[in-house]
Amino acid sequence: MTTPFRELVDFTGRRVLVTGAASGIGEAITRTFAAEGATVIAADRNEAALEHLAGELGSACLSHVYDQKDIASVEKLAQAAGMVDVLVNNAGILLVEPLLELKWEDLRQVIDINLVGPMALTRLVGAGMIERRQGCVINIGSQLAFNGARDRSVYSSTKAAISQFTKTAALEWGEFGIRVNCIAPGKTITSLNRHILADPVEYEAGLKRTPLKRYGEGSDVANAALFLASEAAGYITGHTLVVDGGWILE
Ligand SMILES: NC(=O)c1ccc[n+]([C@@H]2O[C@H](COP(=O)([O-])OP(=O)(O)OC[C@H]3O[C@@H](n4cnc5c(N)ncnc54)[C@H](O)[C@@H]3O)[C@@H](O)[C@H]2O)c1
Repeated sequence: MTTPFRELVDFTGRRVLVTGAASGIGEAITRTFAAEGATVIAADRNEAALEHLAGELGSACLSHVYDQKDIASVEKLAQAAGMVDVLVNNAGILLVEPLLELKWEDLRQVIDINLVGPMALTRLVGAGMIERRQGCVINIGSQLAFNGARDRSVYSSTKAAISQFTKTAALEWGEFGIRVNCIAPGKTITSLNRHILADPVEYEAGLKRTPLKRYGEGSDVANAALFLASEAAGYITGHTLVVDGGWILE
């Protein structure tokens, strides 16, 4: 007998760890999993925003303040989270700087937050998943992993690396029943790129290029994350799912 789809996306009793949960895409992912019955461990460096979200979601949300550029802090997060069914590596920062003006400390910070942190957290949380022979990891990459991206050399490199890391982790952990996938969002209006709204020329250019003629919302990515984490995606691993309204097609 086929299981009804809505039963496949039920997360009642599941523990989901979401990084960068205090705003934007991470907040939408937190709200979506909480609405489907999960207990979400919401982690972020922004304590005030995190407390606000946790207060609103009540017992469905446990908050943890950490800094992803500090490995000791990432280790404490993994320890505090305990048993995790789904890990969503979402925290990330954007850096817009021409290659020749790039400062080494900025370059290292983006690599630490966007790549080293997620890899470390995946190893730490993944060890428990492997022991239990159950679990799933979703990394948040970017459509910029696939195109040249002016002034975004470090950012797009970390996102391409996350897609590649996803494939390797999926390859190594598949035999233990662990699925690892990636989502590559397109232009989604959050604090990370709110500057688009302030620039009518850039705003119109983005819309013109996007076949679906709108910018993304956090919920577009959150719904993709829910699907990839669910039993409905039980035979999907190592994949990067582009959620960009078709922007990448041109
Ligand atoms: N918004 C977009 O258009 C877009 C497109 C492609 C990919 N992404 C990716 O989506 C993810 C979420 O971005 P967003 O658009 O929601 O941005 P956002 O700025 O709204 O959210 C990022 C969250 O990560 C947290 N964070 C940043 N650095 C951290 C650190 N060192 N330790 C702990 N938490 C930290 C921030 O406090 C914030 O809550 C990022 O990985 C980003 O690269 C976004």
